[in-house]
This record gives sequence, structure tokens and C-alpha cells, in this order.
Amino acid sequence: AASDPDLVARALAAKAALGDKVFVLGHHYQRDEVIQFADVTGDSFKLARDAAARPEAEYIVFCGVHFMAESADILTGPDQQVILPDLAAGCSMADMARIAQVEKAWEALAEAGVQDQVVPVTYMNSSAAIKAFCGRNGGVVCTSSNAEVALDWAFEQKGEDTKVLFLPDQHLGRNTAVLKLGYSLDDCVVWNPHKPNGGLTADELRAARVILWKGHCSVHGRFTVDVVDELRAKIPDLNVMVHPECPHEVVLKADHVGSTEYIIKTIEAAPSGSSWAIGTELNLVQRLALAHPDKNIVFLDRNVCYCSTMNRIDLPHFVWAMESLVEGVVVNRIEVDPQTEQDALVALQRMLDLPG
Ligand code: 13P
Ligand code: SF4
Repeated sequence: AASDPDLVARALAAKAALGDKVFVLGHHYQRDEVIQFADVTGDSFKLARDAAARPEAEYIVFCGVHFMAESADILTGPDQQVILPDLAAGCSMADMARIAQVEKAWEALAEAGVQDQVVPVTYMNSSAAIKAFCGRNGGVVCTSSNAEVALDWAFEQKGEDTKVLFLPDQHLGRNTAVLKLGYSLDDCVVWNPHKPNGGLTADELRAARVILWKGHCSVHGRFTVDVVDELRAKIPDLNVMVHPECPHEVVLKADHVGSTEYIIKTIEAAPSGSSWAIGTELNLVQRLALAHPDKNIVFLDRNVCYCSTMNRIDLPHFVWAMESLVEGVVVNRIEVDPQTEQDALVALQRMLDLPG
């Protein structure tokens, strides 16, 4: 739907009034009505780097979800304020790993006698408290664009017997460990935080190389092999491209797997006339289809499937946040407490220092 022209004019006026004081970051899953005002767009890795590279901006307006705004707060200076236009823009995957549950799992790993061998790796899509946990315990943050390098780094930390505890997305962890690093499915176990001892025996923990937290993305978890087969039967020479948050069996059937930034670059480089089915959030897929009318781009689902929390950031919320700043009022500031920030920064910095 076209954006309300009055709101567009107000957003433009607020942006002009704020000038260099404000820097607007937009994740690729954001609505068109909001992404048009982003100074930079990106996947979560690029946005984390871009946020850190703008020390002169007093305000960072983050059009994305809560964990991204927290990471931006951690990576920016103490005088910079990060604003999330709607505080209800959370992430159901990040919510699947609570710090108390993770601390409990860590204790259980000690009781099983394996904790000394375990390096915790958390996906960017997690709370600052979990990033801080990783910072305190020799671990690292990763995103979908550097999960392979991060896991490689992690497996080198404790010699041959290293195990990785991967939080909170079991799919990204499994897809990376198995398809990129060559571990087998038998090397992976799933830790269920709702069961005593994660639902695992001490022997299973001792035998495992990769302990996957039982979390998933509610958007990417919906893509199925049935739809892949159906579309391949219907569209000749179809290229299937999915995000690594998709289930393992879907990723196995795909021709390309990668982060949102990778998906965009691959489509940009694709020849005219080629056909693509894309398994990632719908705002991005629709935008790609519109930007590349010479390519046949379809969504890898029969149903409409947006990330409902990403979509919380709409034009009315954006305008409200920006106009408040013009009036000198900071609304919806995301501020991580200093101790958490210090520990989380250790894990985030390890990620930013990874090669590549
Ligand atoms: P990337 O931005 O790393 O591709 O992750 C996708 C996602 O689900 C963000 O919430
Ligand atoms: Fe979270 Fe999935 Fe939405 Fe990304 S797309 S914010 S992982 S629920």
C-alpha cells in the first residue's frame, strides 16, 4: 500500500530538521513505508558495523527489532542514544532463550563434567544478557553472514575436544555445523530449556560436539520441502534460495543459502530471465521482485508471511519518534545496563574481529 502522503511529508520534515544529529538504520525486513527513510539498510551484521561507525550522530533511530537496537546501544558511544520506534518490536526467537535458562544449562554442563570444553556462541538474535553471558564465558556473537567463521573460531578455542553451545537458533547452528563445517547430524544434540537437564543425559552431552538450543524463527520455520518440490515442478530451471534460519531439510533442498545481504547480492547478480523462489521474510522478497522486473521472483510459501514484530515499526511510529526528537524529547530509548554492556561488548568485539 502507498504511504500516507501527510506522514511522508512529516517524516521528511523531521529528518531535515534533525540533519546529521540523527542516523536512521533499517533492516531489510522493514516495511517499504519505513525503509525509504533509512540512511543505511542492511542485514544484522552490516547494521551493527554501521551503527558503530557513526560516532557523530546523537540519535540512532533503529528500524528493526529490540535485540538489534540493544546491540547498537552497546556498540555506540555513551552520549549516543538509540531509539526503537515501537517497543513491541521484539523477536520471538530471541525470547526463546532467557538468561536464567541459559545459566541453568551452563550449570548442568558443569555437572555433566563437560563445561570446560564448551564455547558458547550466540546468534545476534538474542538479548544483551545472553551476549554478555557469552562474553563472560569465552564465547562469541555471530550473525547469519559470519556463522561459519565464528563457529570455526569457537572450535579452535579448547583444542580437539571443543564443544559449542549454540544459542538460540537450532537451525542456523545445525545448518552451519553440518553443511559448512562438516559435522554430522549425530554430532548435534538439542537442548530443550523446558525439560530437566535439557532433555539430555550426561552421556549424550559428553558425546555431542554441537549443543543446539531449542529455538527457531517463527517466520523461517514455516518454509517446507513440499513447497520447494511444488514450485520446482511448476517453474522450469527454478533457483531456490533460503535464509539459514530455515529448517535443515529445506536448506538441503535449496541451491543457495545465505543472510539477507547475500540474498540481495545474489539476485542483483542473477541473469535477466532467471527464476527464483526465495525463502525469507516477505517484505524483502516483495521489494526484490519489484526492483528486478526482468527476473521471475516468487515467495517460497503459499501464504503471506511477514515478521509481525518487524512490521510493528510502521510510518506512524517512525514519525512519532522523529518528531519527538525534533521537540527535544527522546522516546523509546533502548539502554543496556553498564555491566551487561561491558560483557556483551567482549563477545560482539570478538565477532567484529573475526577474519573476513
Ligand atoms: P540477517 O539480518 O542476519 O540476515 O537475519 C535475519 C533475521 O531474521 C533478522 O531478524
Ligand atoms: Fe526474529 Fe525471525 Fe522476525 Fe528475524 S524474522 S526478527 S529471527 S522472528
